Amino acid sequence: MIFEQLTAGGCQSYLIGCADSCTGVLIDPEISLIDRYLSLASRDGLRIHYLIDTHTHADHFTATRQLARQLDVPVAMHRESPAPFVDLRLDDGEMLAVGKLRLQVLHTPGHTRDSMCLRIEDRLFTGDTLLMGATGRTDLPSGDPEALFDSLFNRVCRLDPALKVHPAHEYKGRSHSTLAQEMAENTRLQVKDASAFVTMMRNLNLSMPTHITEALRTNMSGGKTVAQMLSEAAAVVPFMSLAELKARIEAESAELIVLDVRERDAYEQGHIPGARHLPRGQMELRVNQDLPDPTRRIVSCCEFGRISTLATATLREMGYQRAVALDGGMKAWREAAYPLRAGRDP
Ligand SMILES: [Fe+2]
Repeated sequence: MIFEQLTAGGCQSYLIGCADSCTGVLIDPEISLIDRYLSLASRDGLRIHYLIDTHTHADHFTATRQLARQLDVPVAMHRESPAPFVDLRLDDGEMLAVGKLRLQVLHTPGHTRDSMCLRIEDRLFTGDTLLMGATGRTDLPSGDPEALFDSLFNRVCRLDPALKVHPAHEYKGRSHSTLAQEMAENTRLQVKDASAFVTMMRNLNLSMPTHITEALRTNMSGGKTVAQMLSEAAAVVPFMSLAELKARIEAESAELIVLDVRERDAYEQGHIPGARHLPRGQMELRVNQDLPDPTRRIVSCCEFGRISTLATATLREMGYQRAVALDGGMKAWREAAYPLRAGRDP
């Protein structure tokens, strides 16, 4: 079995492959690692056949949907998953064939209703049902401590104790443990009384994961993260550096239109000398009047350089093929002590 473990801020993902057939599967891929998964798969001589999420993640951004589009392969999740982009809805006791490997599905609700563990040979991919020295929490949407108790004690702990445990999270740098080790040492697995377990889970008082709203919004719907929107825009937009723009302004280059896309207050407090003001929110409605010549060279700027990237992508989509974005924003411009003007758009 080919086995690669990747980590992104404590989130673990796995590329598993059958060396005989060059068939692979990705478990819990994370959006920032897409290029690494694809590079590793080709280095290992694998073609990925399935993209699997062990559950609806509330704390990381799944890459399954984007990879499914890129690779034209199905996304597999438990049938309880709310995500509309799931192609293959799995149920307890079913298997996926990955070349000669058999990937066995155990429905283990509790952390979420759609949580599952995946067994491949001597390894158990536990998602957030069982972590090393802990379990997944049960206070996020569709979490249920009673169900987790049942999944852990009546399903997972009855499996072969020699199984290697590979969870979806690990923050201490350990690669795996074994089921025997967890049953002996995991403090949560020592609470063998259901009501005591439920009380313990209800009193963990954990803080909410960062980005929970965005993670649930995108993972449950297949929508894009803000970072994805920005990186897609940045991929089709050229940039100009702060120093280059400053030099061109000082040379009084008339060909360049500097377009400030911030709100009025920010513009009036201080803008690049000569910059025109066209707030991003009004852009589509005002371009015909404000920018009648689509062949003009335009540099758009905003406070941090993110909104201007999106605005430039919109301008290019509308036909302004010489629109570029300032690399950095007005904050960096001010910090560099570059020239500023205050007041209204002339
Ligand atoms: Fe989770």
